[in-house]
Amino acid sequence: MSARYLLLLGVITGLVAGCGESSPPAVALPSTAPAQSAAAPATAAADSALPALPAPSPQSIAARKLDPERIKRGAAVYSTNCASCHGPNGEGTPNWREQGADGRYPPPPLNGSAHDWHHSTATLERMIREGSPGIGGMPAWDGKLTNQEIDDVIVWIKSQWPDEIYDIWYLEIEGKQKH
Ligand code: HEC
Repeated sequence: MSARYLLLLGVITGLVAGCGESSPPAVALPSTAPAQSAAAPATAAADSALPALPAPSPQSIAARKLDPERIKRGAAVYSTNCASCHGPNGEGTPNWREQGADGRYPPPPLNGSAHDWHHSTATLERMIREGSPGIGGMPAWDGKLTNQEIDDVIVWIKSQWPDEIYDIWYLEIEGKQKH
């Protein structure tokens, strides 16, 4: 386990803890961490205090084979329909964690720095189709965008996530499909 990865783990644990409004998926890292970690090569003694999380494998990084054409199409869908709220590059609103006077939360980042990556592809699709009209201010896109446009914009969103985030998402969220 590299120091960088451990650092990331800390960041993620913090992010998950801060993910209040929708219960985060099975990112209960410590409890879901397989006991097989004992089989993993023991590194520094300090590691033993940390939850065992499977280290990103080369396979999972290689699995990030997002089709460049779909990323391109998704970027166009995004800039036309989503960028006005979620920011040109998915950076969201600076104060996205703070409820506005109307009780709604501002549009969150979609670039992997918030909790978009806590959701499986299926959940992201549902969130985009249904939105949170009334309560949340996220428009429903079902019927306004084609299935392909929705799929493409999800590919674009994933293309914005940092490698490490994508990797954890792939292993812990998409791979387990609990959410
Ligand atoms: C009118 C502003 C607005 C537009 C336009 C908009 N969104 Fe959102 N979006 C929001 C808000 C506000 C939320 C937070 C919803 C909540 O708190 O219920 C959100 C939430 C989301 C989430 C869930 C994020 C998370 O961390 O759980 C996704 C995914 C998302 N939007 C994708 C999109 C996509 C894709 C588009 C374009 C097709 C889009 N949004 C267009 C306002 C917008």
